[in-house]
Amino acid sequence: MIEADAKRSIIRMFHVHHNYGTKKALIDITLDILKNDFVFLTGPSGAGKTTLLRLLYLAEPVSEGQVLIDGMNLSRVPRQRIPLLRRKFGIIFQDYKLIANRTVFDNVSLVLEAAGKKRRLIQKRVNGVLRLVSMEDRQAAFPPSLSGGEQQRVAVARAIVGDPKIILADEPTGSLDDDSSESIMKLLHGVHIRGATVIIATHDKTLIRKTGGRVLNLRQGRLEGSSIIEKHYDNSIF
Ligand SMILES: Nc1ncnc2c1ncn2[C@@H]1O[C@H](COP(=O)(O)OP(=O)(O)O)[C@@H](O)[C@H]1O
Ligand SMILES: [Mg+2]
Repeated sequence: MIEADAKRSIIRMFHVHHNYGTKKALIDITLDILKNDFVFLTGPSGAGKTTLLRLLYLAEPVSEGQVLIDGMNLSRVPRQRIPLLRRKFGIIFQDYKLIANRTVFDNVSLVLEAAGKKRRLIQKRVNGVLRLVSMEDRQAAFPPSLSGGEQQRVAVARAIVGDPKIILADEPTGSLDDDSSESIMKLLHGVHIRGATVIIATHDKTLIRKTGGRVLNLRQGRLEGSSIIEKHYDNSIF
């Protein structure tokens, strides 16, 4: 890989394997994701999509091969630097993972509080992102009183409030109806337009055809190559 490419990469994996006991979840994964890429990670259930994302945000240890995030080798990151590294990521899950007994505002502001930001800045940033996801009117609500689509919009706000370089979304539309899925995809695309690298794990091929983007295809733990899917303009959502 030439130097110019290395500078444009934000995530690199070299010959990464991951096992759960004797189960081989990822086999010899080598890939390169560029800064500001908009990438789908796809493949059937059990292909290893979630495992791959979990390795990236350090929820699983890298036991074989190398993972570089923004030039940092995850196998060599001292334990005390892990929280700092995690701040490079905003993460979105299929089941939202909001805190049920905290308000919408608090769910989003906790990220900035953990990062030690000042109250005035927190107020401003949280208001800004809640407006972006059209949830500013519901900031005092508790997550269980919201629809799935609304909860996922709050989760998007939480993922982006710290202005992370990388957004990882694991089946973000897996529990949503078509309209809500569309609004989540529009938000993720907007985050990409504003400069972040966005990686979306999904088994939903229709969703990919609606948006277009680079596609990494996993099958039984192996990367089966990448392709660019052109969006279908007749049903495009952007
Ligand atoms: N914690 C775990 N313990 C054992 N096996 C696991 C665990 N998590 C995932 N697996 C297995 O690893 C493989 C990949 O899983 P996963 O990464 O969740 O795939 P995907 O997200 O593509 O559905 C599957 O065969 C799954 O059953
Ligand atoms: Mg999964």
